[in-house]
Amino acid sequence: MAKPRVILITGASSGIGKATALKLQAQGNIVYGAARRIEKMTDLAAAGVHVLKIDVTDEKTLIAAVKTIQVEQQRLDVLINNAGYGSYGALEDVPLSEGEYQFKVNVFGVMRLTQLVLPIMRAQHRGRIINVSSIGGKIYQPLSAWYMGTKHAIEGMSDAIRMEVAPFGIDVSIIEPGGIKTEWAGIAEKKLLEVSGETAYHEQAIKVGAILSLFDQFASNPGVIAKLMVRAVNDVKPKSRYHAGMGSGLSLTARKWLSDRQFDKMMTTAINGAAKLAKLEHHGQRTGKRHYQHN
Ligand SMILES: NC(=O)c1ccc[n+]([C@@H]2O[C@H](COP(=O)([O-])OP(=O)(O)OC[C@H]3O[C@@H](n4cnc5c(N)ncnc54)[C@H](OP(=O)(O)O)[C@@H]3O)[C@@H](O)[C@H]2O)c1
Repeated sequence: MAKPRVILITGASSGIGKATALKLQAQGNIVYGAARRIEKMTDLAAAGVHVLKIDVTDEKTLIAAVKTIQVEQQRLDVLINNAGYGSYGALEDVPLSEGEYQFKVNVFGVMRLTQLVLPIMRAQHRGRIINVSSIGGKIYQPLSAWYMGTKHAIEGMSDAIRMEVAPFGIDVSIIEPGGIKTEWAGIAEKKLLEVSGETAYHEQAIKVGAILSLFDQFASNPGVIAKLMVRAVNDVKPKSRYHAGMGSGLSLTARKWLSDRQFDKMMTTAINGAAKLAKLEHHGQRTGKRHYQHN
C-alpha cells in the first residue's frame, strides 16, 4: 500500500468529492473532506474522514481549515480542489453578479486555497495539487459561457502554476471529467431553465437542458473519477492531465482535430440528437437495447 498522505479535498459533501474522499480514506490516507453542508458528510465522518465546514467564497473558512490541518497533522501532502457548480444560461440572460459568483466559486476559491497551501508544501519541499476542471475546460457548448470560462481558466492557470511550483517539488495535475452522475447536472439544468427558459434563447435552453436531463441515465458514476484521483495522488510521475467519464475521450479528441467550425457543427448535431432522445425518453417511447452502464 502507498504511504498514507494528508489530503484536503473540497466539495466532499456530494458526487465526485464524496466518492474520492471515501476511496482515499479506505486506502489508509488521512483525509480532510470540506464543504458547506456538513450534514451531508456524516457518512464520511463515520468512515474516518475529518469533516471541515468551508465555503470556498469565504476566505475565513479557508484559512481556518488549513490551520486545523497544520495543527493536527503538521503537514499537508495533497490538495484536491474539487468544489464547483455549473452556472448555465445565455450570456445575455445571466446577471453579471451570478457570473462573478460562478468565478468566485470555481476559480477564485480554488486559487485562494492554493495560495494558502503552497507555503506549507514549499516548506516540505513536496506536495501535490489536483484541480478538477472538466472537458468543458477544453470544449464548449452554447448557454454555458460562464461555466466553460471558469474551467478554461482553471486549465490555463493550472498549467502556469505547474511550471512555477515545480522547482519546489510540487506537482500540479488537472482532472477533466466527462458527464458524471452527481448533483451537478440537476443544478446546471435548473439554473439554465430559470434564466433562459422563457427568453429569446428558450429553444436552445430546452435542447441544452435535455442533454443535462439525460445525465441521470447515461452519465458515468463518480467512482470513475475517484479512480483517476487516486492515480493522480499516487502516480510516481503524475500526468499533467487525466480524463474519464461519459463522452470525455470523444469530445477531447474532436476538439483537438476538428476546426472550430467543424466542432460547432458536431456540437449542434449532438445537442439536437440529445434533445430528440430526451423527448423519446420523456414519452417513454424507447424500446430495445438496455442503456450502457458506465462504472
Ligand atoms: N458531474 C459532472 O458531469 C462534471 C463534469 C465535469 C466536471 N465536473 C466538476 O466536478 C466537480 C465536482 O462536481 P460534482 O459533479 O461532484 O457535483 P456535485 O455533486 O454538485 O458536488 C459539488 C460539490 O461542490 C461543493 N460546493 C459547491 N459550492 C461550494 C462552495 N461555495 N463552497 C464549498 N463547497 C462548494 C458542494 O458542497 P456544498 O454544497 O455542501 O458546499 C459539493 O460537495 C466540480 O468542480 C464540477 O464542475 C463535474
